[in-house]
Amino acid sequence: MSIEYISDKELFHIKTKNSSYIFRLRKGYELEHLYYGERINDTRGIEFLSDDNFLGATLHAIDSEFTEEKLSTDRMLREYPFYGSVDLRCPAFHAEYRDGSRVTKMKYLGHKIFSGKPELDGLPSVYAKSDEAQTLEITMADSFTGLNLIYRYSAFEELDVITRSVTAVNTGNSEITLDKIMSCSVDFDNSDFDFVHLHGEAWRECEIERKPLVNGEVRISSARGASSHLHSPFFALANKNTTEFEGEVFAFSLVYSGNFELGAEVDSLKNTRAYMGINSFDFKWLLESGQSFTTPEAVMVHSSNGFGEMSRTFHNLYRNNLARGKYQNAVRPILINNWEATYFDFNEEKILNLASKAKELGIELLVLDDGWFGKRNDDTLSLGDWYTNTDKLPEGIASLAKKVTEIGIKFGLWFEPEMVSPNSELYRKHPDWCIHIEVREKSLGRNQLVLDLSRKEVCDYIVSSVSDILSCGNISYIKWDMNRNFTEIGSSALPPKRQSEVAHRYILGLYNVLERIKTAFPDVLMEGCASGGGRFDAGMMYYFNQFWTSDNTDAIDRLKIQYGTSMVMPSMFMGAHVSAVPNHQTGRTIPLETRGLCAMCGQFGYELDITQISDDEADEIKNQIELYKNIREVIQFGDLYRLKSPFDGEKTFFEFVSKDKARVCLFYFTHSCAVQCNTEKIKLKGLKPDSAYKCNKQIYSAEFLERFGFDTENLQDNSGKVYLFEIQ
Ligand code: GLA
Repeated sequence: MSIEYISDKELFHIKTKNSSYIFRLRKGYELEHLYYGERINDTRGIEFLSDDNFLGATLHAIDSEFTEEKLSTDRMLREYPFYGSVDLRCPAFHAEYRDGSRVTKMKYLGHKIFSGKPELDGLPSVYAKSDEAQTLEITMADSFTGLNLIYRYSAFEELDVITRSVTAVNTGNSEITLDKIMSCSVDFDNSDFDFVHLHGEAWRECEIERKPLVNGEVRISSARGASSHLHSPFFALANKNTTEFEGEVFAFSLVYSGNFELGAEVDSLKNTRAYMGINSFDFKWLLESGQSFTTPEAVMVHSSNGFGEMSRTFHNLYRNNLARGKYQNAVRPILINNWEATYFDFNEEKILNLASKAKELGIELLVLDDGWFGKRNDDTLSLGDWYTNTDKLPEGIASLAKKVTEIGIKFGLWFEPEMVSPNSELYRKHPDWCIHIEVREKSLGRNQLVLDLSRKEVCDYIVSSVSDILSCGNISYIKWDMNRNFTEIGSSALPPKRQSEVAHRYILGLYNVLERIKTAFPDVLMEGCASGGGRFDAGMMYYFNQFWTSDNTDAIDRLKIQYGTSMVMPSMFMGAHVSAVPNHQTGRTIPLETRGLCAMCGQFGYELDITQISDDEADEIKNQIELYKNIREVIQFGDLYRLKSPFDGEKTFFEFVSKDKARVCLFYFTHSCAVQCNTEKIKLKGLKPDSAYKCNKQIYSAEFLERFGFDTENLQDNSGKVYLFEIQ
């Protein structure tokens, strides 16, 4: 049993293989958090963790129910803090009631524990077979307002993961306005943590920031309508001495693609309150009598072995229990995308030439990017008009798809279905279908507007226009792009009192659209993109089997981007392409070998004009493809060990170990070295104990490789090398 209720102590114990999460009922109605950390097998005495000496200063009011004990919830570790009474720290829940009051007082009503894990209505979530997880649902009620809250916890014992979500139900007769409803909140009895999160920009996604918590609050958020390039819906609290390989980490990842907030507040007693959920800024949700609202899911991972173990836990969970469909466990094809090869300037002949050359080199899929539809010859027009641009492709997209397939490779197609160009037939026909406010000017981003996916007819239009194209039968892949954030947020289809619901309703509409397309075309492999990694989040991974990691294809910059992204995302989801030199984003010239090896650390592909390369380059590309086909299962399905970070110096090492530990790929890159990088003994990780491995005809014991390290060679700056080890 991974979830236990110890009735004499009124204690809830949620267990995974290596972690415990414990809270209890006080006085039969208040939930007090006791512990989250390494697994505890014997909980006797755990209630003494509670510090009952709450009343330090008169400033802190005493809860009326706790007068005798002089107990103040303002000083207590709380399980899910709602606003309005004595606890005035950062609340997880805030709502407004019929009398204008904002006081919530939830009391325990009951709980149930069951096998498996329920789906969240209309939202992506981690799934489980009935023997893989157990779920605890606690129902809390506020008798004055008729509001019920259901706190949901699922424990994945083997995967070492706990997921959380909350449902609010209006059982009363009056409207309730939700202002803030976090997916999870966790109180810790100390503040000795570093706060770690991922921030960035387009072309510089997922830089890792680590800073000590200080008194007060750190809060990270997105109000852009998408999780965004700027911050990822992930954070971790790590002990000061935690490294990649050692130390404790508490990590949180939100299965959501829209506006989010996350943070940590350190109070005057040095307790830390961590939280995560939909951004409460510019959010309100009207709950009429009988209606309910469910938050997105938060995934909590505890690691006692540093950030590396934390990431591997996320990778296993997201590959096995979030990704879905035919491609979930299938090797990803090697693709060529024509974007950096042609941009908008292509015709059928050019694409067929690319396809023939790709086939010759061993590439398995050609993706036709932006520019194939409407009258689209640049980015000022035609988004929304999803029919073939016959100036470029006179015989139509279906015919091109067929011809590419006949060449012997698969065909994929780019869409940006959530957008509309003001210069498009769709916009001329339905000017009110975009997100906007009637009386205000509409700001353009990349010359386009965002369609209002909070409207059903807009969602239906997207499903039918994308489906019409996919129905031609020879399209086995789509790249689903999204290239601007929201401004002037409003919907002409919603009443004034529901305007603050638009951003979340949009995301629900998007999930609905993606689900319908995924269900109708189960054999189509779907790639997500948002100007690169602008919406690369766990919510998207429920629908997309891969994601374009960044529009920056410079191999050396990519080392950092892929390193940071891998904090949460598995390599098999991270699109990574070899592009031309000088690089189109940075102007830098990096050797083809380095570009190839860097891209092999993700979902491998090409994005350059292969019809213009030399014979030597073609031979090198053929070798790269042969190599990747030989090792891709290790990279896509194996365990990643980030042995050395590109953020820390002149060398980067990524090690991939197959699940059976029989094969190891050690990738080595040099960058920013003054002249030549010195050799280095790099200690491998995750090998099979008491075994031996062969690399370059030499035999090494696993013990030797882990204890003393493998000798790498001298390399010039900006070089790469891969070493392959086979178990003996
Ligand atoms: C975005 C994507 C690119 C490419 C272009 C096409 O920038 O990230 O990969 O598809 O759009 O317009």
